[in-house]
Amino acid sequence: MDTPDWKGPLGEALDQALAYLEDLPGRPVAGRAGLAGLRAALGGPLPRQPQNPRQVVANLARAAEPGLVASGGGRYFGFVVGGATPAALAADWLTSAWDQNAALYVLGPAASVVEEVTGAWLAELLGLPAGVSVGFVTGVQMANLTGLAIGLREVLQRAGWEVESAGLWGAPRVRVLAGQGRHGTIDRALRFLGVGAGAVEAVDADDQGRMRPAALAAALELGDGPAIVCAQLGNVNSGAMDPLAEIIPAAHDHGAWVHVDGAFGLWAAASPRLRPLVAGVEGADSWATDAHKMLNVPYDSGLVFCAHPEAHRAAMGIRAGYLVHGSGDQRDSLDYNPDHSRRARGFPVYAAIRALGRQGVADLVERCCALAGRFAERLATADGVEVLNQVVFNQVLVRFLAADGDHDAHTRRVVERVQGDGTCWMSGTTWQGQAAMRISVSNWSTDEADVDRSVAAILRRATQ
Ligand SMILES: Cc1ncc(COP(=O)(O)O)c(C=O)c1O
Repeated sequence: MDTPDWKGPLGEALDQALAYLEDLPGRPVAGRAGLAGLRAALGGPLPRQPQNPRQVVANLARAAEPGLVASGGGRYFGFVVGGATPAALAADWLTSAWDQNAALYVLGPAASVVEEVTGAWLAELLGLPAGVSVGFVTGVQMANLTGLAIGLREVLQRAGWEVESAGLWGAPRVRVLAGQGRHGTIDRALRFLGVGAGAVEAVDADDQGRMRPAALAAALELGDGPAIVCAQLGNVNSGAMDPLAEIIPAAHDHGAWVHVDGAFGLWAAASPRLRPLVAGVEGADSWATDAHKMLNVPYDSGLVFCAHPEAHRAAMGIRAGYLVHGSGDQRDSLDYNPDHSRRARGFPVYAAIRALGRQGVADLVERCCALAGRFAERLATADGVEVLNQVVFNQVLVRFLAADGDHDAHTRRVVERVQGDGTCWMSGTTWQGQAAMRISVSNWSTDEADVDRSVAAILRRATQ
């Protein structure tokens, strides 16, 4: 075979990527194209003949461009979406070029060692016990699934039931206690595991969405037998953190497994100033978090940690005659993941941490939180604007008051107008029964000027 033309398509991709990234800070934040326009630009019949790869990349970039959301830029405050730091993005490109299957040590020794090293760095950064096991997954949905699968296995094992072989039919009932403010991916993970979302015993939460430890203690008293407690660091609306220092000992006194969904809030541990928010975190049994949120690694990049590596491997591992399993302490990543073949997701996480260092990660997290505080301060002083939450981390909930008293309708209208304005983008939500604008500061490149420009746009649209 002739040497393929790598430079053509990869050079085109580099040119297109640089043009996009350099334009990102100035581009309108929302996508411009509608559904019909994108279908017309990207669709058509199944191609019959080959096409020049460079041309394919150029055409794709041109056709997709109007439908791209500038979610990697500094004025995107929707959901909890991080951007991509230069080192992490570049390492992500290499991950594709190297195309390692990070399932087994033998398939990619460098990928395996990078995950081992990065896992230990992450444990230190996030205040988890040394020696925790780690899995690199697509996001917290899969990290929650993995943590809960390990917990389910473990609490049933202690009750004399082997869930791997016997499944859940006829098994002792496992209680699942989770805060009212939990994220929907906990319920979805329980659906996938066959436990069912209906199994959740919702524990009362306070006005910020934090689980009430006294309510948990009372709920735990109502039954015995195998139990899992799901706690949370970072309520998806308010950013509030469950008080783990009280929750974890209470759960352990009842023999429960404690899983912590710390999708973005666990990153408070990386900052000496914010670490008190996650006090007690090291006592849990499993933890889920994302690198594609606060650490600003490109999608998709989630992490699951477990304080019981044996249980982790027992719940996730797989053996087959044709597989070549690592010997000694060579890490086979499929022992820690629900995936079989998979992308070597450790490389960009490794590069992100190398480039930032401990100090850089702390600065990134603290900057996002300080800028959320700046949003709250500036908006709270404006007429007809209320900040609904205590801004403890990177989330701000805002309500706009209407002269006619229909604050919900007005708030939703303001959110829509701001989304259409193009200066910035944030979504709406319902918080404690009230419509609210939801601002999440999660991007490494956001600065004071971005916040001030966004506040000005919000106030302009609120009074138009
Ligand atoms: C608390 C919490 N848990 C879970 C998730 C889901 O994370 P992912 O979309 O990475 O699966 C989110 C997403 O924002 C979240 O905030």
